[in-house]
Amino acid sequence: MSIHIDAKTDEIADLVLLPGDPLRARFIAENLLTSAAQYNTVRNMLGYTGVFNGKRVSVQGTGMGIPSISIYVNELFRDFGVRRAIRIGTAGSIQSDIKIRDIVMAVSACTDSAANGIRFGGRSYAPAASFKLLRTAYDIAEAKGCKPFVGTVVSTDMFYSEDPDEWKLWAKFGCLAVEMECAELYTLAAKYRREALAILTISDSLVSGELTGALERETSFTRMAEIALETVVS
Ligand code: HPA
Repeated sequence: MSIHIDAKTDEIADLVLLPGDPLRARFIAENLLTSAAQYNTVRNMLGYTGVFNGKRVSVQGTGMGIPSISIYVNELFRDFGVRRAIRIGTAGSIQSDIKIRDIVMAVSACTDSAANGIRFGGRSYAPAASFKLLRTAYDIAEAKGCKPFVGTVVSTDMFYSEDPDEWKLWAKFGCLAVEMECAELYTLAAKYRREALAILTISDSLVSGELTGALERETSFTRMAEIALETVVS
């Protein structure tokens, strides 16, 4: 048991999927896992453990933003011995060729968050994915007929930025999409020597202003969750 996760150590698998939305954790448990049991309800940040392709897998909601995911991932790595963690979430495209419903796999994450500034005393750290997980996830996605974009994302603290054009600087330097958690997941995976990856579906485009509807979001979420599940048990 940890401060924010009310589970016994063996109730959480060492392979974990991390959706931001706790209701997405429930959706995966109910639709994609077998024998799923809920282990956490603290703050309604739902967590479940079930079975996928014969292996135990947990799905834990993380909430939105770096401070929130930092709490859950710290506790999963430090207190529950989680070995592999795959974030599945949404992101806003900042490149014109990346459209809504496309999948982005994050090689690395830039960030405007204060977290790594505090952690590294103002030095710049380069949070990066597990190459092994990334390669596996890419191959699984391709075999399903989908062609993910692979590159750097931006983990921002400001969904509602004061400067509506801020994303253009990141776009100019080749970043693919904006989200709010990846940099912290990758940094913690490096600290604890664990494997991590973020697989993101594009829910909106800052370039075109396009947004996905609720039904489309559910369909693309399911496809991404299946890729993540096959990857995490690989
Ligand atoms: N900005 C930040 N985070 C996001 C976005 C966005 O446009 N879309 C989905 N997550």
